[in-house]
Amino acid sequence: MKILITGAYGMLGSDLREVLKNQELIVTGSKDLDITDEEKVVEFVCENSPELVINAAAYTAVDDCETHYDDAYAVNAIGPKNLAIACNKLDIPLVHISTDYVFDGTKRTPLIEADKLGPQSAYGKTKLAGEEFIQENTDKYFILRTAWLYGLHGNNFVKTMLDLAENHDEITVVDDQVGSPTYSFDLAVAITNLLFSDKYGIYHVTNEGECSWYEFAKLIFELSNIDVKVVPVTTEEFPRPAPRPHYSVLNNKKWNSSGFVPMRTYQEALSEYLSLYNFFKKTNRI
Ligand SMILES: NC(=O)c1ccc[n+]([C@@H]2O[C@H](COP(=O)([O-])OP(=O)(O)OC[C@H]3O[C@@H](n4cnc5c(N)ncnc54)[C@H](OP(=O)(O)O)[C@@H]3O)[C@@H](O)[C@H]2O)c1
Repeated sequence: MKILITGAYGMLGSDLREVLKNQELIVTGSKDLDITDEEKVVEFVCENSPELVINAAAYTAVDDCETHYDDAYAVNAIGPKNLAIACNKLDIPLVHISTDYVFDGTKRTPLIEADKLGPQSAYGKTKLAGEEFIQENTDKYFILRTAWLYGLHGNNFVKTMLDLAENHDEITVVDDQVGSPTYSFDLAVAITNLLFSDKYGIYHVTNEGECSWYEFAKLIFELSNIDVKVVPVTTEEFPRPAPRPHYSVLNNKKWNSSGFVPMRTYQEALSEYLSLYNFFKKTNRI
């Protein structure tokens, strides 16, 4: 299948290139195809005539979005809109990735696709605008909301914890934000379910299970046999520029009941990730 991947050199994009390597791929970073430019996007998509577009491009620096709203809006809202317009012209599906941050975090049970939206941060607002633009501009879309991504490529919470442990005996981590850490490689594999599917719509797709950042950090060190003291703190004690939801666990039920392959638990995914991470680090590949 001929597939265009935008944002192909980011964390998820890199895993998508690996997972989909047996397909005919057109891979683009922001220098090859700036998704904020409607004319270029439509021209590029029409000239290359893919059968499917996967948008892994985004402005993902959550705190920076607060002070760079227009830039974030361009990439997270206008970008997906442009891709939706182009896909609609060619009558091909668009796979787009969204986030748990479109919810306000007040619910205390796993969120379903139809739950009330209420992004609190600039990042969440721009991502929600992207979802809405896609739905307005094409019918053949898959919007996958995922959460707390980590992978082998790019910065993420797991790498930050492992780096910190190299020169700290004690690390403080927020214990009042609960979510579902998700391995970007598992999400890339999940996306392969969609290649020949016409079950369009919005889906929640994360690794199964839930934990706080504190609990996740403890597990990272436990599985890595690293002896470091992890101290739980509240969000108030560890303020960040962008507000984060206190609870944003996503319910994968719709994904599972649509016949797509269920996601494994975050513990299983983390364990595999850490083995690979350590191997790649030892062999200087990351
Ligand atoms: N990371 C998380 O925890 C998380 C959680 C939930 C959902 N998500 C969503 O998952 C998706 C993948 O996230 P990720 O963490 O893999 O992102 P990432 O590593 O930050 O990669 C995003 C890529 O987008 C590209 N990009 C930025 N502006 C662009 C533009 N104007 N035109 C084309 N490409 C552009 C960047 O390419 P260049 O480097 O070439 O500029 C970058 O490689 C995103 O939609 C994100 O919102 C992420």
